[in-house]
Amino acid sequence: MLFFGGDYNPEQWNEAVWKEDDALMRRAHVNLATVGVFSWALLEPEEGRYDFAWLDAHLDRLYANGVAVDLATPTASPPPWFTLAHPDALPVGPDGTRLVHGSRDTYCLAAPAYRTAARNIATALAERYGAHPGVAMWHVHNEYTTLCWCDHTAAAFREWLQQRHGSLEVLNEAWGTEFWSQRYGAWEQVLPPRATQWHKNPGQHLDFRRFWSDTVLAAYREQRDAIRAHSDRPVTTNMMLPAYQNVDLWALGREVDLVAIDHYPDAPGLDAAADTAFAADRARSFAGGRPWLLMEQGTNTVYSGGRILGKEPGEILRHTLGHIARGSEGALFFQWRQSRAGSETWHSAMVPHAGADSRIFREIQQAGEIVARLGEVAGSTVTAKVAVLHDADAWWAMEVDGLPSKDLDYHDALRRAHRALWDAGITADFAHPEHDLSRYRFVVAPSLFLLSDAGAENLRDYVAGGGRLLVQYCSGVVNDRLHARLGGYPALPLREALGIRIEEHRPLRRDEVIVLSDGTRATVWSESLRADGEALLTYTHGMLAGKPALTRHRFGAGESWYLSTRLDDSGYAALITQIVGSGTPGLESVTRHAQDGTRWQFFLNHDVDPVSLPEPGLDLLTGAHVSELPAGGCAVLRKRRTP
Ligand code: GLA
Repeated sequence: MLFFGGDYNPEQWNEAVWKEDDALMRRAHVNLATVGVFSWALLEPEEGRYDFAWLDAHLDRLYANGVAVDLATPTASPPPWFTLAHPDALPVGPDGTRLVHGSRDTYCLAAPAYRTAARNIATALAERYGAHPGVAMWHVHNEYTTLCWCDHTAAAFREWLQQRHGSLEVLNEAWGTEFWSQRYGAWEQVLPPRATQWHKNPGQHLDFRRFWSDTVLAAYREQRDAIRAHSDRPVTTNMMLPAYQNVDLWALGREVDLVAIDHYPDAPGLDAAADTAFAADRARSFAGGRPWLLMEQGTNTVYSGGRILGKEPGEILRHTLGHIARGSEGALFFQWRQSRAGSETWHSAMVPHAGADSRIFREIQQAGEIVARLGEVAGSTVTAKVAVLHDADAWWAMEVDGLPSKDLDYHDALRRAHRALWDAGITADFAHPEHDLSRYRFVVAPSLFLLSDAGAENLRDYVAGGGRLLVQYCSGVVNDRLHARLGGYPALPLREALGIRIEEHRPLRRDEVIVLSDGTRATVWSESLRADGEALLTYTHGMLAGKPALTRHRFGAGESWYLSTRLDDSGYAALITQIVGSGTPGLESVTRHAQDGTRWQFFLNHDVDPVSLPEPGLDLLTGAHVSELPAGGCAVLRKRRTP
């Protein structure tokens, strides 16, 4: 069975609406509801006094209606009493501003009072519902996103630094404090990176990000373990994608029983479809071969620069299948019924303000029916032969002050590499630079500004062993302490694998466009480098004229490319397809495999014209034979292993 449903916040409604919810959930084939995410104020109206009666009634009603529950701990939104009782546990910004209730996510994860309150409510819920037959899984917290720079944080940060560095001397060396008179003489002098006059110390920034990620993991584990003491159901938390990176998602993936993600594209149309694949491929990769689940998407929501754009007819189904094709064990939405008041009145829902007689609910019903028909794919997996390297340290390293260009953007580089592969019809995994990469026939390293010694050696060994590696500009420039690589970039093992040595970074001016030897245009960045191998493209401007811009090199049994600038979209797409080939343009095709050899081929036609399928077959979505998909059409074909 695949899951279909969404966040259900019945406390906003009354009995008549609950009755209608039951009927509509049956019509839409809803089988899982996330309950209680924002219910702290109702569950614990005063500190230590719990009221579970209303939740008992909803869980029993849902269970009787065939809807299992993903039961949340409400700790992402502490109630107003919490502010008054524990003002020291509210978050403080880098400039010293302390936030108060009136919104949500207002807590400091490093504050003992918050951690205790969170553990207590999680324990109380687990004790009460740990054995409830309707609880299918647990949903700890919601999108761990809040950062804090308060005194509790400062104390916890110092403890973390002592563990990591052992002595102040090592910390001073790691952070390069000899410069700018930043040397620390006592631990009490070390602070989180609060507002400063000018550039913050980069090592302090990176260590703070790592520390905060560990703080999130510890807070998650505490609740998870409290739940596990009373329940044998899987426990998870929903990862916030795409651009937030407040926790190392590889590490979080290892802590949860089931990786769960929320996905809201930031641009409509084809960009939203590509972003769906970007989110889904990351989720599958963080899950490391275990199941994962799309925990939230919007029915009619594309957050785009201060606007909530709608989705086009058919996109609810295409985005849903886009996630399931890439391994999701179902598709859930935020939220079931659109709020009529409060902070998310305009966030779309499965039942919109207009009610069930609406395009959105009809599309939800259709998607629910189709997901129910696809139950047989549950538990099957997706294997990719190509990977894009994803590393939290490299991401955080590119946020530090004082880099050579403000146009360097790790998230952009990551997303762009994935997009070029998606456009070429190639399914990609994400991998960490230190993972075993030998199963991939091609690996892309987007701008991995920070690359550890172990990562650089791993990439060299991957190429030596027969791998094909594309490394992009501004990679391997600093080690895991943010110290510059000396003697030429990138890190030596990678220089060997790429057959290059970079002497100088030459960032481009804002809006500057350069033209390379074959007419391809490039922006943002250029480098002065020497290459042992072939120069596929050269620069044509200034002091770089005639020098390599794109190189290819044979090393050991493998091959490597180095791209020292940011190519325009068509040049980049051409490079990617030249290296890995391409599928049918506009036709997204992904295969899920079961252990018994059965395969399910998912096809999504993003083109404006009909496309022919590579092979005709029986479509599980309609029960009809298909050989061609209309514009926007989808099909799922089952292939059994022939004996
Ligand atoms: C997030 C949250 C939800 C809701 C949705 C929609 O991802 O997890 O609580 O706020 O966004 O805005």
